[in-house]
Amino acid sequence: MLAGAAPSWLNRAWAQKQAIEVPGEDGMVLRSFRFIDLESPVEYFNSWLTPVPHFFVRNHMYEPSELDAETWKLSLGGEVEKPLTLNLAELSKMETHSVVNTLECAGNGRSLHRPQVPGIQWGKGAVGTARFSGPRLRDVLQHAGVKPTGKHVMFRGLDEVPGKVPPFIRSIPMEKALDGDTLIATHMNGSPLSKHHGFPARALVPGWIGAASCKWLTEIKVLDAEFVGNFMSPGYRLPNQPVKPGDTVKPEDTHPVTALTVKSVIAGPSDGASLKAGKVTVHGAAWAGEADIAKVEISTDGGANWSAAKLGREQAHYAWRMWSYDWKAGKGGDYTILSRATDSQGRTQPESAVWNPSGYLYNAVDQVKIHVA
Ligand code: MTE
Repeated sequence: MLAGAAPSWLNRAWAQKQAIEVPGEDGMVLRSFRFIDLESPVEYFNSWLTPVPHFFVRNHMYEPSELDAETWKLSLGGEVEKPLTLNLAELSKMETHSVVNTLECAGNGRSLHRPQVPGIQWGKGAVGTARFSGPRLRDVLQHAGVKPTGKHVMFRGLDEVPGKVPPFIRSIPMEKALDGDTLIATHMNGSPLSKHHGFPARALVPGWIGAASCKWLTEIKVLDAEFVGNFMSPGYRLPNQPVKPGDTVKPEDTHPVTALTVKSVIAGPSDGASLKAGKVTVHGAAWAGEADIAKVEISTDGGANWSAAKLGREQAHYAWRMWSYDWKAGKGGDYTILSRATDSQGRTQPESAVWNPSGYLYNAVDQVKIHVA
């Protein structure tokens, strides 16, 4: 096809492909090319902080083509006394706070739900942990003075919206917005945010599904009610009661997905690995949104017996915990290794995840099958 005849989305997707690390080079799994979605292989979950090139990317639409730190502005309006606009220099002068947060896409693990559900078929790697830094959202809101009518805080990103796709706008309740760990993050692991992760500024709503943390932030608006729009409803909602495939769920019988649930993932040995008998270190990561990890248990016999894994030293309230378990693989044969996390709220990873039509919050006990020679 002649370049001039290519549909505009293809030209733009191609231009973006030139700009990203070629997936495969750094080992990321390309889940969508039109709007870039990159997944980390679980084998990358071997460090407490995920290096930025190994951090998953989730885009609902095109990344903004023009992002200029000099001209970028963030406006704050709605139910406030003094609407204001900040440029990056002004934002950077504010007191900075850092939060190590495990960011997970609500759809992580969607491909594992049975029966299968439509949507990006994420495996286990739409999750990562980074140190996010920037001013507290609370401080910026206080500058503008929130009116008593202000109950929710809306974020708008600079994404380029193709055709009929509704813009990525979502809101969070005021209580979470005023939490001292909710940020307007400008940095990730000590460096300015990369384009994929929301340069020059993104919301960081710790412990909540990734969708709450709007990238390429350009507008914050204080509202008297939850924002009404596609990415608040029907998007990112769960049925109040368990449902079966084919059931009709009325919007009033659903609620927004907010905090992440309890979950662990095995990073090694890899599923399908063939190992020598002897010491095998089973290792991975476990997280629980706004709760802390209390324990991780491992079974090497398909769930008949469980032993406690050792939790890693590095910890922070919203961050995953690395864990490891030294197993002596004696006899040759096939083994199913399972991991199961329990959190400080007493929640334990279930044997099977709660099925829902959008495939959110998959958190069944993790498993890998290996062969010992
Ligand atoms: N913000 C904007 N503006 N546009 C988006 O498409 N995707 C959201 C969120 N913020 C998105 C966004 C979703 S669904 C997730 S899971 C996280 O960003 C992913 O963040 P990351 O790409 O930095 O890993």
